Order: sequence, then C-alpha cells, then structure tokens
Amino acid sequence: MAIIEVNNFSKKFGNKIVHKNIEFQVNKGECLGLLGGSGAGKSVILRSLIGLEKPDTGSIKIEGEEIVYKTEKELIEIRKKVAYVFQNGALFDSMNVFDNLAYPLKEHTKLNQQQISDEISKILIEFGLDGNEHIFPSELSGGMQKRVGLARSIIINPHIVLFDEPTAGLDPFNTIKIQETILKLKEKGMTSIFVTHDMPSAFAVCDRLALVQEGKVTCIDTVQNVKKDENNIINQFIKGYYV
Ligand SMILES: Nc1ncnc2c1ncn2[C@@H]1O[C@H](COP(=O)(O)OP(=O)(O)O)[C@@H](O)[C@H]1O
Ligand SMILES: [Mg+2]
Repeated sequence: MAIIEVNNFSKKFGNKIVHKNIEFQVNKGECLGLLGGSGAGKSVILRSLIGLEKPDTGSIKIEGEEIVYKTEKELIEIRKKVAYVFQNGALFDSMNVFDNLAYPLKEHTKLNQQQISDEISKILIEFGLDGNEHIFPSELSGGMQKRVGLARSIIINPHIVLFDEPTAGLDPFNTIKIQETILKLKEKGMTSIFVTHDMPSAFAVCDRLALVQEGKVTCIDTVQNVKKDENNIINQFIKGYYV
C-alpha cells in the first residue's frame, strides 16, 4: 500500500522551472532512495511532503490524505506523522541534549516528566548517546549532532521519516551508525525517503532508488535491479557523478 503518493508535481521559482512532472510512490515499510545532481530539486520535494513548500500543480498524498491544500494548522497533524531530518541536525543551541529531545515530547505528546525522561534515556541508549544528556550542541562533534538531530526527529514515533543527506560530511563510524539506525527503524515498519549522494549508504538501506533529472523521475527501480544492470540509467548517473 502506498503511504506516500506524489503525482503530476510541478514547481518553479520565478522563471526557473525545477520540477516538470514528478511522480513516485513509497510503500509501507519501504525506504526509497532519492538521487539527483545538486539543484535537481530533491530538498524541495522533501519540504513539500510536510507542506513547507506548495507545488504549482499536482497532488501529494500522505497515508491516502491529500495535503496540498491544507492550512498551517492542519499541517501540524501531518508533521506529527512525517518527520524531516535536517541536514545539520537543526538542534537548539541554547538547550542541552536532554532538553532538545524533550522538546518534541512536550509539544506533541501528553507524557509526564518521568515518562519523558524514560523515553529520552531509551533513545539515547539506542543511539549510543547515553551520558550526553547535559552536553550542549556546540560541544558535540558534527556526527553526534546529526545523530541527536535524528533522535529528536523520531522520538515521537513518526510513521514516515524524510532524511536529507544524513551522511553528508560524516566519518565512516558515524555513517555506519546512521545506516544502522535507519535499518532498525525499517524493522519497526517505518517508511522513509533517503536523499543522498552517498551510494554505499543508499545501497545499504534503500529498497528502491529513484533518480530526479530535469524535473522528472527518469528511473525508479529496486536496488537489486540497479546493481544487476550496469547500463541502468541510475548506474550511468552514478558513474557520471563520480568522474
Ligand atoms: N525558496 C527558494 N527560492 C528560490 N529558489 C529555490 C528555493 N528553494 C529551492 N530553490 C531552487 O530550486 C532548485 C532545487 O533546489 P533543491 O531542492 O534545494 O535542490 P537539491 O536538494 O536537489 O540540491 C535550486 O536551483 C534552488 O536554487
Ligand atoms: Mg538538497
């Protein structure tokens, strides 16, 4: 069953046409890798899925519900279901790790202080971040900031997670940690979109890959098929990208 459904999506900024006709679906529990050159429009697609951008035409359905015409107030409910993991973690600098993680729980759930504290302990252990409760973001390495950002995005158990280049600029240790986290979330049935240029990570965590070129999805296929067929458009794109 399609949890995310994008049809006939077009978007321009001023005279610049970025998306002509984007179409794709993501099924329940699936991780779709979204590939494309810089400026292809990947981040705009992710932002549109939580209503931070409005397409000029087209339809975006989340769990069967059209979101394009929703008001800011109605979008709050969508944003509880769909988490967006920002590239830099987007932590609040003035709050320590504990308070950063407590924030979405206080905003979006009715948990009491003890339950909030328990949830935070649980997720810190799961992410290998326990003991860092009282550390401020500026004192964390880039890799740890990203992992705390990821923990904060998923602590309220969203159904869908949108990852915007979560491994960009990370060392191998943190890259593997992020891959493991995504795989664990998949085991729990979470649906995700993974925007990346990091092909080893895409191959490790994605079920299917989609390539955005000149405003369209030019290829969408399983990781298995892409790996098998050297002449696949996605393989050609990857080769071209790395030369
Ligand atoms: N708010 C905006 N105003 C004007 N142009 C924008 C805006 N957001 C994105 N763009 C343009 O849209 C294109 C796609 O951007 P983006 O989705 O960030 O690309 P990607 O994530 O694939 O690198 C870029 O050319 C970018 O300059
Ligand atoms: Mg981007």
